[in-house]
Amino acid sequence: MSGGFHHRHLLGVEGLTATDVLHLLDTAEAFFAVSRRPVRKVPTLRGKTVINLFYEASTRTRTSFELAGKRLSADVVNMSVAASSVKKGETLYDTCKTLEAMQPDVVVMRHGASGAPHFIASRLRCAVINAGDGMHEHPTQALLDAFTIRRAKGRLDGLTVAICGDVAHSRVARSDALLLRLFGCTVRVVAPRTLLPDGIESTGVEVYDRLEPALDGADVVMVLRIQRERLEGALLPSLREYARTFGLGPRQLAWAKPDAIVMHPGPMNRGVEIDTTVADGPKSVVLDQVEAGVAVRMAALYLLAGERRGEGDGVHEPASEG
Ligand code: NCD
Repeated sequence: MSGGFHHRHLLGVEGLTATDVLHLLDTAEAFFAVSRRPVRKVPTLRGKTVINLFYEASTRTRTSFELAGKRLSADVVNMSVAASSVKKGETLYDTCKTLEAMQPDVVVMRHGASGAPHFIASRLRCAVINAGDGMHEHPTQALLDAFTIRRAKGRLDGLTVAICGDVAHSRVARSDALLLRLFGCTVRVVAPRTLLPDGIESTGVEVYDRLEPALDGADVVMVLRIQRERLEGALLPSLREYARTFGLGPRQLAWAKPDAIVMHPGPMNRGVEIDTTVADGPKSVVLDQVEAGVAVRMAALYLLAGERRGEGDGVHEPASEG
């Protein structure tokens, strides 16, 4: 478990190597086993402090960072921005300096502005993890997706992955595509033209505007949420129309490989981008993604706050903490 991850922060998949990713995933495997024990706790980060600073709504990401910190025995503080001095006009810089005076080891941040975690990382002494910044990156989601794919398929290399839906507004699509390309995967994106970012072709992904050819031969079908909160103007004529042409139902899923898996980062708009029978069907690994999220976030916290300071490897210690 030692060596291998030499970053101070985890701000994006951009900047990570395939070796970094594998090191994180292998570390996460050990923590995945911890989370399946009767006592799901190790003393690895005892005495460390993690602050969750979420400026945008979150269910899975915030809860799993909290659980990850607690399972590592860190003290975890969730700052609810809605109930904080941010509402009184405090700047991001002042909020961060204030939190820093409380000596955290890691600040986990989600923010609606792309680059916000990078801004604070360059100004704080502690480690910063990006839990989603605007339409830019969501590195721990890409890592948990990779973890889930590797478990289901036995490998990451050379797979064909179709990412379907609102790619333009999706930090998940961006981070996933960057990560999968590190492993030589064929990454296809499929969406109405209005939901694809300009210049996407130059990023090395294949671009489709119809589901059938995009799903043909796919090992992994990744469905994205229509980000209604980020849709400006009339990018989509109607959700019903979208569901009819781009929604993933059993008929469309049959175009992918027979052993294809279906992923969705959540929250799902059932009946819009994904049909309920598919979301809850045998090919869906949506809840495996959630379980992987805790293990991957334990690995990220451990590699940034524990191992770096030369401390013991609590993964292999008996689960003695209550
Ligand atoms: C995603 C996000 O917030 O970027 N959700 C998540 O973290 N699991 C995707 C989304 O909101 O659609």
